[in-house]
Amino acid sequence: MSAATSVIDVQDVHKRYGPRGPEALKGVSFSVEPGEVFGLLGPNGAGKTTAIGVLTTRVRLTDGSASVDGVDVTTDPQGVKRRIAVVPQQANLDRALTARENLTFHGAYFGVRRAARGARADELLDQFGLADRATERVDNYSGGMSQRLMIARALMHQPVVLFLDEPTTGLDPQSRLFLWDRVAELRAAGTTILLTTHDMAEADRLCDRIAIVDHGQRIALDTPEGLRGLLPGANGVELVVRAGQDPVAAFEPIGTAESMQLDDDRWQVRCFGDPTLSALIDAAEQHGSEVLDVHRLEGSLEDVFVHLTGRDLR
Ligand SMILES: Nc1ncnc2c1ncn2[C@@H]1O[C@H](COP(=O)(O)OP(=O)(O)OP(=O)(O)O)[C@@H](O)[C@H]1O
Ligand SMILES: [Mg+2]
Repeated sequence: MSAATSVIDVQDVHKRYGPRGPEALKGVSFSVEPGEVFGLLGPNGAGKTTAIGVLTTRVRLTDGSASVDGVDVTTDPQGVKRRIAVVPQQANLDRALTARENLTFHGAYFGVRRAARGARADELLDQFGLADRATERVDNYSGGMSQRLMIARALMHQPVVLFLDEPTTGLDPQSRLFLWDRVAELRAAGTTILLTTHDMAEADRLCDRIAIVDHGQRIALDTPEGLRGLLPGANGVELVVRAGQDPVAAFEPIGTAESMQLDDDRWQVRCFGDPTLSALIDAAEQHGSEVLDVHRLEGSLEDVFVHLTGRDLR
């Protein structure tokens, strides 16, 4: 992947907040290709919002370089701003305005022609299920409605890159599914998306690739599938067998095995090292135990995340 074709290019970026402040980014690099949905995952305080801040020119980097659509964030922040849209972690709607005004004013600011603004706003309000509350002041909006409106606002000027900082935090399941559909549509339309989330199911479902950051450093970068492969327990199989006594020894010749008693005569056995199904069944039969269930162990992204970042609170 060459930097020349990347829509987002981040090279060894550092960010220190003030001379004695924390170094929120300690040399982070990654690039995002056109049309990708790229996820930034990491515990609280990892530096995700700071990274988005750098790319959206809200935060000034202290070392390294970053560009969006080929435009350098440090030398041409205005050029970057024209190409992007941001849905920030903290709501920043104008609460004194109506929902529709929030969209049309934003459109005007970004140079959407007057004739097109109203129609575009109505289209988005409808798409985000807010058409019947369009002329109400945002002050009356619920948290989920505000979040939907912020995303609608971001789309007023058809950005090259959309930044979503924890877009589904605080949304109900309906709104979350709705948002996932919108992200899928945007992706299909070719919009490049960078999102952060603490929802592993969301990351797994939406992202083409994911960077995991912790303490200001990138500690992993891969597809969701590739990340799952980082689990030591990958290539494992889990069996439930009926046996009079602990069957673990029967499986040890095949791979590393561990067992746990489920009840009087049922045992759960995990066998690692990519064993074949026939070898497992042979082993069980020789031991005189009956295989009740077999399935491949597929670690969740959550397992990978905890494996890589540990369990300590941040
Ligand atoms: N304006 C600021 N001034 C000083 N320190 C800051 C500022 N903004 C963020 N930080 C610090 O930088 C570090 C990274 O914060 P950041 O908001 O980027 O994390 P995050 O990964 O987005 O976390 P979360 O998941 O909680 O949103 C934290 O230690 C935070 O306290
Ligand atoms: Mg954040």
